[in-house]
Amino acid sequence: MSTAEGVMPSTTATSWWRDAVVYQLYIRSFADGNGDGVGDIAGIRARLGYLRDLGVDAVWINPWYPSPMADGGYDVSDYCSVDPLFGTADDAAALIAEAHAMGLRVILDLVPNHTSDHHPWFQQALTAPSGSPERARYHFRPGRGSNGDEPPNDWRSVFGGPAWTRVADGDWYLHLFDSAQPDLNWADPRVNADFEAILRFWFDRGVDGFRIDVAHGMVKSDGLPDLNGKHETSADHPHWDRDGVHEIYREWRRIADSYPEPRVFVAEAWVGSPERLARYLRPDELHTAFNFDFLSTPWEARALRGAIDRSLASVAAVGAPATWVLSNHDVVRHVSRLGRPLTPGVHSLSGLPPVSTLDRELGLRRARAAALLMFALPGSAYVFQGDELGLWEVEDLPDDVLRDPNWERSGRTDRGRDGCRVPLPWSGDAAPFGFGPDGAAGLPWLPQPDDFAKVTVDAQVCDPGSVLTLYHHAIRLRAEHPALGDGRLTWLPSAQDVLQFSRGLGFACAVNLSRAPIALPHGAEVILASGPLTPDGLLPSDTAAWLAVVD
Ligand code: NOJ
Repeated sequence: MSTAEGVMPSTTATSWWRDAVVYQLYIRSFADGNGDGVGDIAGIRARLGYLRDLGVDAVWINPWYPSPMADGGYDVSDYCSVDPLFGTADDAAALIAEAHAMGLRVILDLVPNHTSDHHPWFQQALTAPSGSPERARYHFRPGRGSNGDEPPNDWRSVFGGPAWTRVADGDWYLHLFDSAQPDLNWADPRVNADFEAILRFWFDRGVDGFRIDVAHGMVKSDGLPDLNGKHETSADHPHWDRDGVHEIYREWRRIADSYPEPRVFVAEAWVGSPERLARYLRPDELHTAFNFDFLSTPWEARALRGAIDRSLASVAAVGAPATWVLSNHDVVRHVSRLGRPLTPGVHSLSGLPPVSTLDRELGLRRARAAALLMFALPGSAYVFQGDELGLWEVEDLPDDVLRDPNWERSGRTDRGRDGCRVPLPWSGDAAPFGFGPDGAAGLPWLPQPDDFAKVTVDAQVCDPGSVLTLYHHAIRLRAEHPALGDGRLTWLPSAQDVLQFSRGLGFACAVNLSRAPIALPHGAEVILASGPLTPDGLLPSDTAAWLAVVD
């Protein structure tokens, strides 16, 4: 063993969020209850039994608020209501109650960095004069150049192009994302007060927590200075990961803790290092944060071990649990990331044309192994809808169906994130694969490929070799086995390009990332494997196994 004893610490003060499996519901693509081709709350309610049977502890639902949908709902025009496309406030209340009755927690998505340009706050700002209090809720500035026709600084939109748009009277406003998503000015105390009220609004309705969108972006440097060559993760960046954001989270934590059953937060913060991320998880700030460092690590043993060690050490320093995630609605699905010989690195918002041919079978084999690795690690884990079906990135969507603002803002060079957002296949052998109710007229909002027929829920649920069955077993075992969930891991000696660790209490995990089959530790008994062993009992390449061992 490379570190001290392999025994799990007796987990003190373990709370559900420290080791939960959270299922991400990209609402418009999960299930369509009313047959208009867009997923909705009715669809989720009809499928809650599926989620309960999968064994997850909580769901995180992407934004369901009223929105013009310029960025899939991340452009909110009313934070305290539900978009009619998805249902009503009553539907939301019923969903929360039904989920709770099944033992599932509900996490919503809060978008505090920006609103929609249709939000009444922004509409009021547009009709008010330059320098008015209405404009002070956002970042309005005069332009540069002799006529003020150059943007106020050199900041760029994450989706491409300048981060500024000019309005009729000559002022410019800041938008770090699409021009339909103006950034709020968090130096204005009204913005703080409004979001505290929004948190309470949903907490009072039983919501168990929030995922915080762009959690590292709300505070901007005074005077909005130029980037001057700084890149995303540079120290003292003028708009990412500024120290001021932590003040906001201390206040939010007080609000969450004021409820009899404290509410929780998970941060979406693309910061430079696990150490910077851990600053969001100090005891009086947020509970958890997505581990994008893990998500972005190539399928390579040494790199993965490094990412795991760094993550565990940095969260341990602040007493927070780690989280693990392989895919979400912003990145290329991991079956496709892992199925390319030149495993690319970071896939944050990447829809750039793939650099090499996809070997989907390889990607799937690795994705199955990656799932067992993820579920065996200490902390909580996120499943993006469709991960449990082994879905891949749909890379050949026709140009005219693409909705992601990335596509147009990049001058049609980056195809954006629609390929991971294709509606789920539930049943049948042709589109819409049971996505809507029987006989529904509306086609799914994005076309599903024909080969979804092989991976529908119905096709997989009774197949002992399916990805869905693997997820079922892994999530159940993870909940039942006392070694899994929160706690520590201890690396075990292993061959090169193999990850092997103990979680104590007789549990070990082995992942073979080498090119050749490997022997399992002497006396180990396989509890679950991501694929068949060789006839002589070796663990093949790109395969993982959970093992009962003698500690
Ligand atoms: C992160 C969200 O996950 C993404 O989908 C969205 O486009 C940006 N934040 C802007 O809200």
